[in-house]
Amino acid sequence: MPARDQRGAAPDPTDLRVTPPAEGSGPVRGDDGPHGGRGTPFTFRHDGRTVTAYPGETIGAALLAAGVRALRPSGFDARPRGLFCGIGACFDCLVTVDGDGPVRACLAAAAPDTEVEVHDVPRQR
Ligand code: FES
Repeated sequence: MPARDQRGAAPDPTDLRVTPPAEGSGPVRGDDGPHGGRGTPFTFRHDGRTVTAYPGETIGAALLAAGVRALRPSGFDARPRGLFCGIGACFDCLVTVDGDGPVRACLAAAAPDTEVEVHDVPRQR
């Protein structure tokens, strides 16, 4: 039986949208020093929305901090896939960056003004 959300509705496994963080909540990355001691933030685009990242952060880390957990549909049953191993071994985090891909979001460094998109995986059935 599929898990249900707080309203009792069964989740749609093909819906990759996420609820954005509440207005003004900001990313959770510590609070010591300017910008949490992480350097000067920059932005990139992910499926039409602007995401903030910090120097040295991977695309996957920045998207996770922005509340994005599903990065692509699986090729077998189109269920959402996202960061799983976080070390480049599972390939669940594939994205397209500026039209090139697949790229593992857990390994690729976020860069200013890039366009990160869902990586379309060919269906297996
Ligand atoms: S999360 Fe496993 S390869 Fe990226």
